[in-house]
Amino acid sequence: MSDLGSMTEVVQGLLRPHLKAGDWAIDATLGNGHDAAFLCDALDEVDALDGDAALVEQDLGPRVIGFDVQQEAIDASRARLGDRVIYVHAGHEDMSEHVPAEAVGAVAVVMFNLGYLPGADHARTTQEKSTLQALEASCGVLQSGGVIAVTCYRGHPGGLEEATAVEAWASALPRKEWAVLKLEHTNTKRPGPFSLLIQRELPRPSKGA
Ligand SMILES: C[S@@+](CC[C@H](N)C(=O)[O-])C[C@H]1O[C@@H](n2cnc3c(N)ncnc32)[C@H](O)[C@@H]1O
Repeated sequence: MSDLGSMTEVVQGLLRPHLKAGDWAIDATLGNGHDAAFLCDALDEVDALDGDAALVEQDLGPRVIGFDVQQEAIDASRARLGDRVIYVHAGHEDMSEHVPAEAVGAVAVVMFNLGYLPGADHARTTQEKSTLQALEASCGVLQSGGVIAVTCYRGHPGGLEEATAVEAWASALPRKEWAVLKLEHTNTKRPGPFSLLIQRELPRPSKGA
């Protein structure tokens, strides 16, 4: 037995320190709302721990935005999370149309969990072209030091091609502006999921600061 944790737990653990009081976060593939629940809980925690009293008092309203193209995913997430999330029943490729102006540049984390909705139609998967469009759009809303997490699955039809395209896209990001980390179990018979963490570099401290 290993206690390294599932890929989801490892990714969430690495994302958690990047969420600060007052930040926004996006779940680009809402599904059943598990990742959105992590984002809501983490933001509530940091608001209470790190936020000044005024921020906690102020009740800034929901700052997790969740996208999904399937009504059943929106319904399942709403049943889990109620009004803690801004639900967007639209493709993540249209992200820039739906992210409120106040969130642009204030998003600390964008999560993608690619593939199909467990328990639903397995043919309704994320698609290479729209996923890449959504990743580009995510770069446009992310704050300095913010992280995009993408978990890619290779077992379903189209999954390998999508995963390969996502990795190629991330690997081509300019090193001075982005850091890209890949996480993967390597001792499996069939290729399992892998996750990419893509961080917008923080500005370098100015000399003498
Ligand atoms: C693996 S599930 C996500 C799991 C989810 N993050 C959770 O915590 O339960 C992938 C989801 O992506 C959704 N999806 C597919 N194409 C999409 C698109 N273009 N934009 C947004 N969501 C999409 C599917 O409907 C499905 O619910």
